[in-house]
Formats: sequence, structure tokens, C-alpha cells
Amino acid sequence: MSQNSPLFRKKTVDQILKDAHSGSEGGLAKVLGVRDLVSLGIAAIVGAGIFSTIGLASYNGGPAVSLLFVFTAIACVFTALSYAQFASTVPVSGSAYTYAYVAFGELFAWIIGWALILEYAVSNMVVAISWSEYFVSMLKGFGITLPGWLTINGETAREAFQKLQVSGAAQLSDYERVAAAAYESAPMIGDFHILLNLPAGLVTLLITALVYIGIRESRTASNIMVVLKVAVVLLVILAGAFYVKPENWSPFAPNGVKGVLSGVAAVFFAFIGFDSISTTAEECRNPQQDMPKAMIYCLVICTVLYVLITLVLTGMVNYTELKVSDPLAFVFQKNGLDFMAGVISVSSVIAITSALLVYQLGQPRIWMTMSRDGLLWKRFAKIHPKYQTPSFATIVTGFVVGIPALFFKMDFFVDLTSVGTFFAFILVCGGVLYLDHKGISARSKFRVPYINGKYLVGILFFLAILGILTYGQGIILEWRMLSFTEIIEHKLLTIIFWITWCTLSILSYQHNFSALPVAGILTNLYLMTELGASNWLIFVIWLAIGLVIYFSYGYKQSKLAQK
Ligand code: ALA
Repeated sequence: MSQNSPLFRKKTVDQILKDAHSGSEGGLAKVLGVRDLVSLGIAAIVGAGIFSTIGLASYNGGPAVSLLFVFTAIACVFTALSYAQFASTVPVSGSAYTYAYVAFGELFAWIIGWALILEYAVSNMVVAISWSEYFVSMLKGFGITLPGWLTINGETAREAFQKLQVSGAAQLSDYERVAAAAYESAPMIGDFHILLNLPAGLVTLLITALVYIGIRESRTASNIMVVLKVAVVLLVILAGAFYVKPENWSPFAPNGVKGVLSGVAAVFFAFIGFDSISTTAEECRNPQQDMPKAMIYCLVICTVLYVLITLVLTGMVNYTELKVSDPLAFVFQKNGLDFMAGVISVSSVIAITSALLVYQLGQPRIWMTMSRDGLLWKRFAKIHPKYQTPSFATIVTGFVVGIPALFFKMDFFVDLTSVGTFFAFILVCGGVLYLDHKGISARSKFRVPYINGKYLVGILFFLAILGILTYGQGIILEWRMLSFTEIIEHKLLTIIFWITWCTLSILSYQHNFSALPVAGILTNLYLMTELGASNWLIFVIWLAIGLVIYFSYGYKQSKLAQK
């Protein structure tokens, strides 16, 4: 398809900057500095990942999951640099969606906007469910126990009940026992057990109402909530350190590399959000300098906190006990420190609320930008006359997040969010190569440090292949034992990864690609392959639905098409 096809119509940097400054309300106040950005970043990053999903990741991978945090952080650093270059070139809100409009054209911009729904709305379903776990645990601390069937989704409860039937109560964790009991005690309609996560649905409703009437995370409020969040995490690390039993760290990786890598989605989920800083580019005093610094600081701070907290959690109890949704409070309870567990539960509820708010604010604003470009129905850009918020988009976000949070399992959303966000990150890294190629990077006030990838990418590719041939006997044997159909079935994603690396080696040779964005593409893609084929399939279906919507509406209604 030709680059001149309407599908690839692009916005120019000048056009975007003009549009951003032509609003009747004038420019946004430029008040944010590095400290505020770091604070906003941490407000968005630290949420359900570290408060909840780390539990299951540690259960599967053991203490070695701490290393996965480091590897994932490296992939995020490459991506953050790419985001920072875009934010300094196109310092307007809209984030990856706007960047894709410049680099790859409208179709990709739509695809990214559609994928960002996974990063914002779907991730918020996880945050709402996580909030509910801590809320229920907090109420228990005050002696109030909600009926089990009102605090859990049907699938989790049914699975626990089935496990109880097959393996007996002794094989169940405390959490599973509660889940199985909820299943048994649930009211029924015919054979159907009524189970729902009411607190998750209600908190989404409340936060949506706040967002609708214009409650904004002001700089001060955000700073306070971030202080609280970091305080809880530090409290767990510092207090927990006294209860660490080093024998719990052995074996360090009880289920091998496979067990560790099964936590990719959960670990990556914990880092999602650093990119949301880029949506505030129009409100930064000096986005070109501050944005890159803030993203890197956020990543470093969170990585250190996450690694320490994983070591503490897996040191305080045996990793096999961590299959819970409120691990931070759980480990203290398990060590007989009920008061501490209570303090952590209460503060976690407040801390997680702030993450919920950030994403519930972000999603309608992305829809609003897309609607302004003509890619979504005009109603999504409707501003409430009194509250001055994107009212329709906010209500839709409330339903989109709240209803699934009532009924579905957290793990599914974690996987879906991660696969969509990896995809967006890969496109942003690829976009920097485009900026370089078209000479647009010359206008970027911050550039990803240039390391010539001409030979480097290819040399590393050959070294990796050589390494596998020399040291990877186990891997080779595994491949040899598979039939062609099995290879396609189980190894397709790995093949895609190696083909991409090979292609990037050739392109780097031809175009002197900058090595760091290439490293960003490859590390993100590698982690994405670990998410498994079923997640990719769901993601492809998600994209297909998005394309149907684009071709039936945005393609014709786009502002660029009208022009
Ligand atoms: N990183 C965010 C969280 O963990 C999505 O909640």
C-alpha cells in the first residue's frame, strides 16, 4: 500500500503544535517541574502491580522474580528514552497516540489509541479489583466481614471450590479456602451461583463520579498520595526486613527460568504508567529537559523499591504462600503482626485509590483527543458546561471499567493490559527510528543518545545465535523434539522475535539505526513473546474489533480526511 494512502495520512509536528495552541481556552498553565513529574509518575506507576500482582508472580517464580524486575526495568528505560524524545519533539498531550500520528500515520495512531484502552481502562479493572482485596482485608481488621459472594468473581471461586473437591482442604491456601467457602455460600438462581466483586464495582463508580464533577489530582494532592504510597512500601521493606528468614530465599528460582518468566505480565504491569508523564507535556515548564529526567528517575526509584519488596516478601514467608491478592498485608499477618497488617491495609486502600483516579482521568482524555481528530464520535469530546470535564467519555469509562471489575478475574486483565502496552511501547521505539530517518529528530530538543547500530545490532544477533548453539543444548534439544506443527503451535512467537532481530540487523546496516530504540523494540518484543500465544490471540481479536470501528467511522470522519 502506498505511503500516500489515506490510511497513512500524517499530522505534521507543526500542525500538532498549532492545533495544541489554538484552543479557545488558551494554553495550559506551565507549572510542572522534575519533582512534580516524578511524583505524578510514581502516582501512576505504583498501584495494583506492587500491591497485588507481585503475589502471584512470586508464587510462580520465587525470590528470583526480583531479577525479572531489573530486566523489565531495562526494557522500560529504552522505551522511556524514546517517549522522552517524542515528548520533546511534540510537547503536547496525547502521548503515544499523537506520536504515532506523526511517525506512522492515522491507521497506526488509531491502533495505538485503541491499544491504550488496554493500558488505561483495562489496567484500571485490575487496580479496582486490587483495591477491593485490600478494602475487604481492611474491613476484616475492623471486625467487619462482608459476605464472601459479594467480594469475589465467579471464576476464582469456582476454581477454588473444584480444587477443594479434587485435592481436599489441606491443599488449599488460606485465600483459596475463603474463595471456596464463598462459592458454597453464594445465593443461587437455578444452578447458577451469584458471585460478584461489589467493592471493585462500587469504587469505580465513586471515582468516576469524582472525575465527572471535576475533581482533579492537583499537584499537592498527588504529592501527598505519593508520599503515602512510598511510605507504605518503605514501611513494608524496613519493618519486613526484621522478619526475613534467609532460608526462604533458597531455592532462589524454584521453578527455573520458566517460572520466573511466567511473571512477566505481572512484573511489567507494575511498571506501566511511567509513560503517562508524557501526557502532561503541555503543562511542563521545560518538557525537553525535565521529561527524560523524570521518566528515568521514576524507573530507577520504582525498580529499587520493587526489587527490595520482592526480596522482603519472599524472605518473610515461603514463596508458595504468596498466591494472594493482598501480599503486602498478608506477609505481616502470617508473621503474627496483625496491627502492622491493619496499618498496611488501611494505607494501601488510600494509596491504590490514587492510581485508580489517575487512569480514570487519563482514559476519557485520550478518547477526547481522538474524538477531536474525528476518529471517534463527537460526543467523546463533549465537555460538561459546568464541570468542564469530558463528561460523556468519563461516563463511558466508568461503565467500561466498572462492569468487568464486578465479574472477572484479575489475571486475565493483567495479561491483556501488558500485551497491549508492550505493543504501544514497541511502536514508540520504532517511531524514533522513523524520526531519525526523516531528519525530524534534528528538531527534537532531547534525543535518545545515539549509538550507531550499523554493525552492533547484527553482531549481537550473531553472538546470540552463537551463544545458543554453544551453550543452549537444552533449547536445541527441545526444538528438535518438536514436529513442524508443534513448532508453529508453541514457538511461533519466538520465531517472530528472531525474524524481527534479523530484519532489524539488516535495516540497521542500511540506515545506521540508533541502537537504543532498536534495543527497546527487541527487549519489549522478547518480554511480549513470554506472554503466550493465547494472549496474543486475544490482542489480535481486540485489534480486529478496533479496525472494524476505524473503517466504519474514523476513516471517513477523520479531520485529515475532511481537509
Ligand atoms: N503500574 C500500575 C499498577 O501497578 C498499572 O497499578
